Amino acid sequence: MATRSLLLLPGDGIGPEAMAEVDKLIALLNERRGAGFETRTRLVGGAAIDAEGAPVSDETMALAMSCDAVLFGAVGGPKWDGVPYELRPEAGLLRLRKDLALFANLRPAICYPALADASSLKRHLVEGLDILILRELTGGVYFGEPKEIVDLGGGQKRGVDTQVYETYEIERIARAAFEAARTRRNRVTSMEKRNVMKTGVLWNEVVSRVHRDEYPDVALDHMLADAGGMKLVQAPKQFDVIVTDNLFGDMLSDIAAMLTGSLGMLPSASLGSPDETTGKRRAMYEPVHGSAPDIAGQGIANPIAMIASFAMCLRYSFAMVAEADALEASIAHVLESGTRTGDIMVEGASKVGTAEMGDAIAAAFAERLG
Ligand code: IPM
Ligand code: MG
Repeated sequence: MATRSLLLLPGDGIGPEAMAEVDKLIALLNERRGAGFETRTRLVGGAAIDAEGAPVSDETMALAMSCDAVLFGAVGGPKWDGVPYELRPEAGLLRLRKDLALFANLRPAICYPALADASSLKRHLVEGLDILILRELTGGVYFGEPKEIVDLGGGQKRGVDTQVYETYEIERIARAAFEAARTRRNRVTSMEKRNVMKTGVLWNEVVSRVHRDEYPDVALDHMLADAGGMKLVQAPKQFDVIVTDNLFGDMLSDIAAMLTGSLGMLPSASLGSPDETTGKRRAMYEPVHGSAPDIAGQGIANPIAMIASFAMCLRYSFAMVAEADALEASIAHVLESGTRTGDIMVEGASKVGTAEMGDAIAAAFAERLG
């Protein structure tokens, strides 16, 4: 039996509740498909700070390096507001992304027909929406140096973050975007701020060159990131693949998430380069929503973004395409049947909690697995 190793990092807030629903699906795949998933669970974020003194331990990092894929819940919460910046919960997530070299973050925003009324936009604007945001994840202002607060004396300080991109970083995320577009509607929109930022000028130049030399068959256009944000809420269906830097990608993907009805709906995959000898890519899968401390522990969180992240894991890390399709179809089916968590509740639907939503999806999935 093939062994597939997964590292589960549920984290803080609603992370553990959402991850518990994925456990059910893993068990199903092992029973019904002999999938051979072996899981290990470790702490990350605030939970790891409390128990291990750091937001991600070296032992956990070593496991993340050696497993086939990492499933990540969420980190952070007011409890850790006072911890030193270097040790804050988010630093654990950023270390995982950086040390695993997960430069390509795929954030698909799909509006399930059943949810078109849950969106804050009008139904006709979002119904059938299917866009993919390719966010650069290991560079830009998140990691650029210097990153500091300097005491200038006289009660004045200077805060510095550094936005920096090199050619190879832009090339590889551009290629990932063009490759993805070829499997979809063959259209890429690149977003930057070349009217203000040097990194934007370089970004635009490199994306254009990669397009001209390697992907002339794909339609490419460029948009200033602020205008792009506006277009995303004005006429989101004009987009197919959006490629953008780390910070703009963070913001634009939260906007895109709300088009789908709720932040609780958006999954993501973070991928590294294929290994030169094995062809395997390091990978981590995480919902775009955060730890939502305000609703944590109440059993009311929407587990769909976490479950859909697991579907991406099946697709991208294990080439289990039929199973990934079946899981996504199960989510759509349960939504159509009118089963809703509070965040996507509409009149006439039946309101359920996290575990009931997970059970409903698992039951639909079991039926499809046969
Ligand atoms: C995200 C999150 C993270 C980010 C936080 C938790 C550090 O907002 O994945 O979008 O800013 O990248
Ligand atoms: Mg974010």
